[in-house]
Amino acid sequence: MRKLSMIKVDRKYWGSLLGLVTLMAVGCGSGASTDADTKTASGDKPKIAFMVKQPEEPWFQLEWKFAKEAADKDGFEIVTIGAPDGDQVLQKIESAAAGGAKGLIICSPDVKLGPAILARTEKLGMKLMSVDDALVDETGKPLDVHHLGISARKIGNTVGEALDAEMKKRGWTNADTALLLITRDELDTAKERTEGEAEALTKAGFPADKIYRAPEKTTDVPGARDAATVVLTQHPEVKHWLVAAMNDSGALGAVRATEAYNLKPENVVAIGINGDTGVIDEFKKPQPSGLFGSILLQARRHGYDTAEAMFHWLKDGKEPAKITYTDGVLITRENFKKVLADSGLPG
Ligand code: GLA
Repeated sequence: MRKLSMIKVDRKYWGSLLGLVTLMAVGCGSGASTDADTKTASGDKPKIAFMVKQPEEPWFQLEWKFAKEAADKDGFEIVTIGAPDGDQVLQKIESAAAGGAKGLIICSPDVKLGPAILARTEKLGMKLMSVDDALVDETGKPLDVHHLGISARKIGNTVGEALDAEMKKRGWTNADTALLLITRDELDTAKERTEGEAEALTKAGFPADKIYRAPEKTTDVPGARDAATVVLTQHPEVKHWLVAAMNDSGALGAVRATEAYNLKPENVVAIGINGDTGVIDEFKKPQPSGLFGSILLQARRHGYDTAEAMFHWLKDGKEPAKITYTDGVLITRENFKKVLADSGLPG
């Protein structure tokens, strides 16, 4: 009996403690909230919505993490919003504005919604910045919106040069090697990256007719895997595969397809872009896979700097830079721990 009542007391105690902790978390805030709680009271803190196209992708989670760091430091609030398809974008912008957001940072699932997004934010009195994927009009022309993205062509070139160096190091010849290029030409930053990859390789002497393009229908791992499977099926004669894509999901999806085809990892050299946790996990596996490397981008600048710039724009009227392009550095199994540590990122 005595034991039982002790347990009861303990439960009650833990219950109220939990309640208190929850209340504290909601009340004090941590600079972050989600679209579900846009309407929670947050005092006078300016609110900024950070909307991304693929909330499950590690890249966008990192951006959010860094944006929240800026919010915690400067005393504003970041509302994280996932909008995986175009239909949701305008309605979620409305909800964010209704919840008090005065600024929107967006990586839109459909960049051609640019004019509609611009018109809606103007109507709602919100300031607008794009991140990663620049907004365009119906004809594909970039809109005059503040933007922070990557130096896509240059980073693509770096991938191509690294593929060439590794191919030569392994003694592969043009005759027995092909490039599997996962493409997404509808998106300008993707096209610039993959064309940059092909460009650097051909410049180094790789035959253009050995570049096999595989358009991905969705820009996630399954989308790239499906696209790669088509090309692998068409070219059973290829002995050595180089693989490039617009990002790590593209490269990883293609690597998964080569594995399903029973291609040996030593016959595959894939290089992604982002330096995602997916890639880091791959590097940590005891046996190397076909994923040879990635270009580590500056997620901190994409998340922290955009959020902070938007905050100062709202608070002090200080206009952010119109266009910023960030860089990246090659990471492989050999150097990733050191590069991550030097960049202040967890390895
Ligand atoms: C695009 C890609 C992301 C990431 C960013 C970087 O949005 O989909 O994976 O590479 O660009 O700007």
